[in-house]
Amino acid sequence: MNKLDTALVGSSLIQAGFALTDNVRQADVVLINTCSVREHAEQRVISHLGHLKHIKESRPDLIVGVIGCMAQRLGDKLLEHQAVNIVCGPAQILQIADLIKEAIEKNKKNLAITKQIRKPAPQHDSDALEEFESAYGVEDKDIPGQAFVRIMRGCDKFCTYCIVPYVRGPEVSRPPQAIIDQIRRLADNGIKQVTLLGQAVNSYEYKSGERTWSLADILAKAAEIQGIEWIKFVTNYPSGKYFDDILQVMAETHKVCPYLHIPAQSGSDKILQAMNRRYTAQWYLDLLAKARDIVPDIAIAGDFIVGFPGESDDEFQATVELVKKAQCRNCFVFKYSPRPGTTADKRFQDTVPADVKQTRNVELLAVQEKISEQLNREFIGKELKVLVEGPSKKPHLNAAESDDNPQLVARTATDHIVVFNAPIALAGKFAEVKITKTTPLTLFAELTTS
Ligand code: 5AD
Ligand code: SF4
Repeated sequence: MNKLDTALVGSSLIQAGFALTDNVRQADVVLINTCSVREHAEQRVISHLGHLKHIKESRPDLIVGVIGCMAQRLGDKLLEHQAVNIVCGPAQILQIADLIKEAIEKNKKNLAITKQIRKPAPQHDSDALEEFESAYGVEDKDIPGQAFVRIMRGCDKFCTYCIVPYVRGPEVSRPPQAIIDQIRRLADNGIKQVTLLGQAVNSYEYKSGERTWSLADILAKAAEIQGIEWIKFVTNYPSGKYFDDILQVMAETHKVCPYLHIPAQSGSDKILQAMNRRYTAQWYLDLLAKARDIVPDIAIAGDFIVGFPGESDDEFQATVELVKKAQCRNCFVFKYSPRPGTTADKRFQDTVPADVKQTRNVELLAVQEKISEQLNREFIGKELKVLVEGPSKKPHLNAAESDDNPQLVARTATDHIVVFNAPIALAGKFAEVKITKTTPLTLFAELTTS
């Protein structure tokens, strides 16, 4: 979601006559797009701001803006920071060019956030945001041939640990026509893969006359668009009335990738209840079984939080059990981070000590690593279609063979990372590869045809 917002802000600034640079020393304006999901992410922003404050001592004209969730969460308090000129919430990013111009011309601090974040936005504000989103929905700057398309904003799930409903506001589904038109334009510009975005993307629902659109309907419509070959969507909430339809479209429409990111968060029903997650561990497993039944080649990924308030050793072991049973292709594991204003923070003490959270984190990742290793090994010898992202940024086991045959990174339809040597001209294109070697996180391959 943040990558998309950054891309929207970037292209709107280019449109307004600015030029982008990644080099802070060259920049007249520095914008930091922020995440509030965990405290650590916010601490990193504060430390960036400390660095920028230092730079501003010798360059007082440098404009610094903080945009995104942290801007919305902290508002005025952030504006008080010596380095900060602009604080701009996620719903105000369309104003960013004007805010910058004003900051340059009038040399004044500027705050643009939503005052009552849980109130539905006035119609003209949401229309303006919609227009901005449609106008600047562009391909991923770093990955040719791919684009993110937001299909809904905000969240109404109120998981007790989560800050998102308080910084991104109520759930709003974008009009189907706007989404489809946007995907069509992207396809006309050579985009081959779109990833549909929402905090709980399977909750997408749009009433238009007699008809109610679900994510399944959007997927089916998007699949009709010529040029679009792969459609992915993140992230899913493990309940909701449209799951069967979504899985059905996935099974029937080869363009809808057999990949489901579906966070479980915990394997303990008591903790799930305290998290206000409205399902049990067994329900989650049944859902995965159903998904695998309807879409046999589906790859499932999950998120887990360790060290939620009151999580005992037994409750953590229930999570370990769930991870073992779920057999996900990968899992993201997070240590509980209390977020001010959330129900969990108000209601519970952060009782699990940091070292216990750390041990549980390591243990859970080790359990998952074994599973990923086993699942990945089954790929050896298989031929797969991949979409090439670009040159590999990390030195991998099989390094570049030569300058004209560098190591590339690609993804499968199931979102597995594949690394192989091939000409850079393949970036943004599909290729056929044969898997030769695997690790828990990566498949290594050789190019068969392109
Ligand atoms: N502490 C730790 N992890 C969190 N997540 C969301 N809020 C918190 C928090 N307060 C995790 C969830 C979610 C992912 C995006 O971040 O697992 O799925
Ligand atoms: Fe946060 Fe829960 Fe909404 Fe996901 S579904 S954004 S975890 S409140």
